[in-house]
Amino acid sequence: MAVIADRCPQIQVTVVDLNADRIAAWNSSDLSRLPVYEPGLDAVVGRCRGRNLFFSTEVERGIAEADMVFLSVNTPTKTKGLGAGQASDLRWVEASARSVAAYAQGHTIVVEKSTLPVRTAAAVQAILQAAQGKTAASDESKSFSVLSNPEFLAEGTAVADLERPDRVLIGGEDSAAIEALASIYAHWVPDERILRTNLWSSELSKLTANAFLAQRISSINSIAAFCESTGADVREVARAIGMDSRIGPKFLQAGPGFGGSCFQKDILNLVYLCRHYGLDEVAAYWQSVVDLNTWQQHRIARLVVNNLFGTVTGKRLAVLGFAFKADTNDTREAPAIRICRDLLEEGAELAIYDPKVAPDQMVRDLGLAASSAGPGLSGEGCWQASASVAEAVQGADAALILTEWQAFRALPWPQLAQQMRQPAWVFDARAVVDPEVVRSAGLRLWRVGDGSVNQRTGNG
Ligand code: UGA
Repeated sequence: MAVIADRCPQIQVTVVDLNADRIAAWNSSDLSRLPVYEPGLDAVVGRCRGRNLFFSTEVERGIAEADMVFLSVNTPTKTKGLGAGQASDLRWVEASARSVAAYAQGHTIVVEKSTLPVRTAAAVQAILQAAQGKTAASDESKSFSVLSNPEFLAEGTAVADLERPDRVLIGGEDSAAIEALASIYAHWVPDERILRTNLWSSELSKLTANAFLAQRISSINSIAAFCESTGADVREVARAIGMDSRIGPKFLQAGPGFGGSCFQKDILNLVYLCRHYGLDEVAAYWQSVVDLNTWQQHRIARLVVNNLFGTVTGKRLAVLGFAFKADTNDTREAPAIRICRDLLEEGAELAIYDPKVAPDQMVRDLGLAASSAGPGLSGEGCWQASASVAEAVQGADAALILTEWQAFRALPWPQLAQQMRQPAWVFDARAVVDPEVVRSAGLRLWRVGDGSVNQRTGNG
């Protein structure tokens, strides 16, 4: 919405939310305190806020005054009831649609921005239709057009992705509404990149795009494990296959498995819907992408334990990076969560450092309060947040790199090694360190997908 406001100064954009703290944070005069850390976003908000971009808790008024309403609420995986663990929880979408139905005036275009299961627009439409024609106190009768306009931005590069999108997708049945939305994007997106489809194709394209991207990551991670066993290097393999223009070079980076709010959720959703339609083989195919991802995370925790003489009980391990990827403070489904939990289960003492993730968030994600008292040999794992890499590695038997923060690419390993308990390890799940530097600092190295490095260390 900030980018739309930036690119279309004549359009007034009002972001409304029931959460007053969040809105206050978006209105904060200190732009470094915005609730979302995203490179470049502070500058965009700084340019537009108070000009044609407003943040408010006045939901009713925001809807009543709008010609177009973007539904941009959460659709997490359901945790209980029908479809628990797979289906999307649509309660916030439904509640928002009901608010729009109640407060809208005149003709309103309602745009689904949240990622939704296919055919959710039908539910939104049904709720809106029930209100259609009813008159609000002083207004002419209301009517609605529903569009699907899924978002393809990735966190960490969101502003750039929005400013130069590969494509903008608009699904709908009402061509006037489609053109109204297309005319907003036309301020900065060439028309050939604005695709118009029917509603269901648009909704399904979003799920499919994420499923395909995640599938590439599981595919390369499966090959990474194979490379580790055979002496090949997955980066060389990725480069070789990526030069085939039919495959392409992107999304072939092996790592600790994909995280983020969308990939797993969207695939599970696809799995649920396929089962619903009796497509069990299709469901099983996509389920395997998630299963491989979970396996990769457990595999990394297991190999840390195995290489540290089969036990991490009472050992201090530095965890470098907790966010699900670099350049974000988001930890949703971060691979670090599952890996840390496995190591805590094994009785490790974790010292976790992430340049952007707040310790409170780690408490919520790990489901365990931080504790400064070491675990001893009692067998109970514990963790603390560290203020720097140097603090995290102090006395540690190993450093695990779980997020590819730029700063982790050039760490002063000779100095850090001196603070660690020998023989000490670096487990590089993002392949960001220079193997020569780490090894010449006297450290043992495991690097994801690199059979040549791991076999030289003597531990595959
Ligand atoms: C993803 C998609 O890339 C966006 O197009 C989509 O709009 C978004 O989900 C969404 O549906 O909201 P995002 O989750 O923000 O974006 O981040 P990605 O860059 O896709 O990374 C997801 C995960 O995959 C991260 O944990 C990342 O480290 C991992 N990854 C990515 C790899 O392990 N290897 C790669 O080669 C690429």
